[in-house]
Amino acid sequence: MVGKITVITGPMYSGKTTELLSFVEIYNIGRKKTIVFKPSIDNRYGEDIVSTHTGFKVSAIRISKSREILDYIRDSIDAVFVDEIQFFDLELVDVVKELVFKGIDVYCAGLDISYLENPFETTAKLLAMADEVIKKKAVCEKCGEHRATYSYKIIPNGGEIDVGGKEKYIALCRKCLSEIKKQE
Ligand code: ADP
Ligand code: TMP
Ligand code: MG
Ligand code: ZN
Repeated sequence: MVGKITVITGPMYSGKTTELLSFVEIYNIGRKKTIVFKPSIDNRYGEDIVSTHTGFKVSAIRISKSREILDYIRDSIDAVFVDEIQFFDLELVDVVKELVFKGIDVYCAGLDISYLENPFETTAKLLAMADEVIKKKAVCEKCGEHRATYSYKIIPNGGEIDVGGKEKYIALCRKCLSEIKKQE
C-alpha cells in the first residue's frame, strides 16, 4: 500500500505543531509506530523534543539533512512526522516520496511564507504534492480576529532564517499587516 502525504501550514502560532502532535497521538492510540523529526537549527524549546507554543511536547530526532530521515526508518514504522519543514533542504520532497512508497503515512508541518513574504521552497513543493493540505490561521495580534495569515517580525533584523518566538514575531491578518507597513 502507498502512504499519504499531509501538509499542515500557516503563520506562526496558528497551531501547526499542535495539529501535527494530535496526529501523532491518533496513531499512537491506534498502537501504530510513529517517529518524529525536527531540524537541528530549531533549538527553541530543548534539543530532542518538538514543542508547541503552549508547552505540549513529544520526543523527536534532530537532523540537519533531510536524507538522514531514511537512516531511522524500519519496516515497522507506520507514520513519519516532520516539524518546521521550511528549514529543510529540498531533498525532503524525494525523501517523503520514498517514504510513501514504503507504505508510510507522512505528516509535515511548517511555515508557508517568511516574514518578508517569500514562500519557503520546501514547504511550497510539499504543498504542491500533498494528498491533504491543512491551512491554519492564527489570531491577529492587532485586531483580534482569527484571520492571521502572516508572521510579522517586530524588529526586522537578522536573516530570513531566524529562530524565535514572541520576542521577534507576531501574527497579523492581511489588513493589519498592510496598515503597519504603511506606517513603517
Ligand atoms: P505553530 O506551530 O503554528 O507556531 P503551536 O501549535 O506551537 O503553533 O501553538 C499554537 C498555540 O499558540 C495556540 O494554541 C495558542 O495557545 C498560542 N498562541 C499564541 N499566540 C497566538 C495567536 N496569535 N493566535 C493563536 N494562538 C496563539
Ligand atoms: P512556528 O511556526 O512553530 O512558530 O516556528 C517558526 C520558526 O521559524 C520560528 O523559530 C521562527 C522561524 N522563522 C524564520 O526563521 N523566518 C521567518 O521569516 C519566520 C516568520 C519565522
Ligand atoms: Mg510550530
Ligand atoms: Zn488584524
